[in-house]
Amino acid sequence: MDDLSKDQISRIFEIADDLKSGTATIALKTGAILAMFFEKPSTRTRVSFEAAITQLGGHGIYIDSRTTQHSRGESWSDTGKMLSSYVDFIAARLYNHSDIVELANNSTVPVINALTDLEHPTQALTDLYTIYEVKNRLKGLKIAFIGDIAANTANSLMLAGVKMNMSISLVGPKGYMPNERYFTKAREYGMVDVYNDIKEGVADADVLYTDTFVSMGQENDTEKRLKLFAPYQLNSKVLGYAKSDAVVMHCLPAHRGEEITADVIDGPRSIVFRQAKNKLLIAKAVLLYLSENV
Ligand code: CP
Ligand code: NVA
Repeated sequence: MDDLSKDQISRIFEIADDLKSGTATIALKTGAILAMFFEKPSTRTRVSFEAAITQLGGHGIYIDSRTTQHSRGESWSDTGKMLSSYVDFIAARLYNHSDIVELANNSTVPVINALTDLEHPTQALTDLYTIYEVKNRLKGLKIAFIGDIAANTANSLMLAGVKMNMSISLVGPKGYMPNERYFTKAREYGMVDVYNDIKEGVADADVLYTDTFVSMGQENDTEKRLKLFAPYQLNSKVLGYAKSDAVVMHCLPAHRGEEITADVIDGPRSIVFRQAKNKLLIAKAVLLYLSENV
């Protein structure tokens, strides 16, 4: 997320606005190809990027990493050099963030982070764009991220949020800290605070955000994590502590009864499915932004 400045994020949102109003003037190179290299499962990110490149007149190739030579030990640097000689963009969803950095450093085409253990930047862009659609502004709004405040989604959202002049409160269990590097970086840009008390953490929040308590790759710690985060469930009581017009967001997939209750995610304050829908729009805007800037 830190590869994009405030102006660059604003440009991506401007392209998204133009796409919505049918006034976008940028086009993809004819026959542009997006390779989508996935080590982890995905429903939304995979399908939205494939739909996006197709709707823009290009072509997407989904690559399940288990069917590739990477699964037999081929390096990320060789994979990047080779894949980028065939395609115009690479989107990758990998376990280790350092692997996507190696892939990107060895690619001659843009590499889009489709989620790693540390980041989910296209999700954060989608989230902020959705907030901007609903609230008509970003500046001065407060997002309360509740639960696993060290999750990849929290890292990207806090960086993106402060860059856009929002404030972030991270609400999680005592002794469980956000990722130090992202927290420190985000605080260089703006207001980010950690709270253990939910009532205090969500007070004055315009957006209540949560994500799974057990991210992909953390399955061995499921029992421990569900217990640790249980008091940080986003439910109607928590919603009652926030502003009366606060909205509820979740990147999905959701686990009703764990990080969020069904009445809240399916209730009138939830903008979760609007948020999910916007992944397609933002995938297109990101691809067009990269076309414009490469
Ligand atoms: N929100 C999100 O990234 O969903 P997927 O894991 O289905 O791509
Ligand atoms: N934090 C979650 C996000 C899923 C889109 C995970 O990494 O599994």
